[in-house]
Amino acid sequence: MKVLEAKFVQDFINLCNEGYLKGWHERNGGNLTYRIKDEEISLICEEFNYNNEFRDIGTEVKDLANEYFLVTGSGKFMMNVKRDPEGSICIIKVDETGTKYQIVWGLVNGGHPTSELPSHLMNMEVIKKRTNGKYRVVYHCHATNVIALTFVLPLDEKVFTRELWQMATECCIVFPSGVGICKWMVPGGREIAVETSKLVKEYDAVIWAHHGLFSVGEDFDSTFGLADTIEKSAEILVKVLSITDKKLQTITDKELLSLEKDFNVKLNRKFINED
Ligand code: 13P
Ligand code: ZN
Repeated sequence: MKVLEAKFVQDFINLCNEGYLKGWHERNGGNLTYRIKDEEISLICEEFNYNNEFRDIGTEVKDLANEYFLVTGSGKFMMNVKRDPEGSICIIKVDETGTKYQIVWGLVNGGHPTSELPSHLMNMEVIKKRTNGKYRVVYHCHATNVIALTFVLPLDEKVFTRELWQMATECCIVFPSGVGICKWMVPGGREIAVETSKLVKEYDAVIWAHHGLFSVGEDFDSTFGLADTIEKSAEILVKVLSITDKKLQTITDKELLSLEKDFNVKLNRKFINED
């Protein structure tokens, strides 16, 4: 089978396009990584080329040694992924030491994987362990309203989580663990990767202050849906704050907790004020 015919590749391309249509991927903003299953590799590996040089990942991901990933290219536009997938995305193989990678497919006009590769792979390692291999997707987008809120709310995970939960009833069902917050940091590279991966031990979503949103999940739909839900909630909060500085009413903590039974979720007690 051709790489581009594989369902996971089509789903990957679709997410890039949907994120672009949402307005979260100006220019080359945002990036996406998928940890490919062994059975998916065996379907498409005939097209792979193992002659490219090995390059440094910029960090060590021993638990991902010898695995394959579909990744967006650095400086490539999400806008163009659907139209020109082979020039915009690539499949990489991590070497046996977990410190280097090789491009085996894609980026036909040159280039390398996203500058956030250290973040994507370090976080992939954390979620692989945390979910016994279930989670496979790492997504970063420049969600407009989430970014706006990082200028007006304190950069505190309790404040952000409670505000986002209260803006729409189903938020706490979609992200019962809450959201982590990473202070402003230089994008790309190891430092932001290390800070984010500490938070991903507990959260499926991390807000990068004045930059964007980082979400992880089992598949493309749930990972995109998580970002979409958080951004929608942030949009409601931006509207509320634009109308008033005092809410007349909100969803109470008791009401939030009453959702747990019917929806089979456990809210992170760190973010609940119990009386
Ligand atoms: P890349 O083009 O290297 O993926 O960077 C975009 C970005 O959003 C960095 O945070
Ligand atoms: Zn970014």
